[in-house]
Amino acid sequence: SLEQSLRPQTLRQYIGQDKVKENLEVFIQAAKLRKETLDHVLLYGPPGLGKTTLATIIANEMGVHIRTTAGPAIERPGDLAAILTALEPGDVLFIDEIHRLPRSIEEVLYPAMEDFCLDIVIGTGPSARSVRLELPPFTLVGATTRAGALSAPLRDRFGVLSRLEYYREDQLREIAIRTAEVYEIEIEPQAAVEIARRSRGTPRIANRLLRRVRDFAQVRGNGAIDHQLAQEALELLQVDRLGLDHIDHKLLRGIIEKFRGGPVGLETIAATIGEEATTIEDVYEPYLLQIGFLQRTPRGRMVTDLVYQHFHMELPSQ
Ligand code: ADE
Repeated sequence: SLEQSLRPQTLRQYIGQDKVKENLEVFIQAAKLRKETLDHVLLYGPPGLGKTTLATIIANEMGVHIRTTAGPAIERPGDLAAILTALEPGDVLFIDEIHRLPRSIEEVLYPAMEDFCLDIVIGTGPSARSVRLELPPFTLVGATTRAGALSAPLRDRFGVLSRLEYYREDQLREIAIRTAEVYEIEIEPQAAVEIARRSRGTPRIANRLLRRVRDFAQVRGNGAIDHQLAQEALELLQVDRLGLDHIDHKLLRGIIEKFRGGPVGLETIAATIGEEATTIEDVYEPYLLQIGFLQRTPRGRMVTDLVYQHFHMELPSQ
């Protein structure tokens, strides 16, 4: 399908994350040379940077199937047992949001990761007994927006830890151009730059903006995306020159207007602007910290002078 071909299928097609890619290439080649299963891999970093895509590529490059699930979807040991026993030797099991796996499941996962076996309790009361199931060897690929939220014993059982970073503008431009090719849309290089600049270092956002700009190009123009059309469309989409959207604005203006620029606690900000604290922490904050708009202090979050400049606001007096 189109969505499928949108995702790169090989490490060679994957743009950016050069260090992660280079390392994975070696580990994959080494495992293949030794005819072994690839060691377990933990991918962590902000949302939208390509963790799911990399998991798919790892399976592809290893020549195995991928089975995908998510932390919150596995509620009982039996759920995990059903997934693990259905794997074929060497398969990749991808667990997204692995930090949301219940603790009781984590404990079932340890022997599965370490010894490829599963200790299952059958029955209850005096007749309960434990049976040990042998599993096919597999590679667990875990993805999380916060490696810190993983328990230490779980984190320690991954042989490969890869942190994904925000993409550079030139990499996002390349991704936008590649995606335009997949969609068979004409795009001016400067229009791709404009999209890249406003994508907050995030391919998922670049591809979303590209699709919306394409809508404008098809309805208001002749289908081709030139620089001016891209600029006008992005204005209408309410993403500013740095790619900040109305929630970023609400967050930053909220801290300035209600808390004199901070410091203010995360929960307080969340309640004030009506967003979940975890959404702010996992989705919005990382980029604002990265561009130096927000600071974390022991007493809470503070906006920096850059925010006042960005909004053309006067700095508060001491
Ligand atoms: N599409 C989304 N992310 C990508 C990446 N890192 N490389 C190529 N195409 C992509």
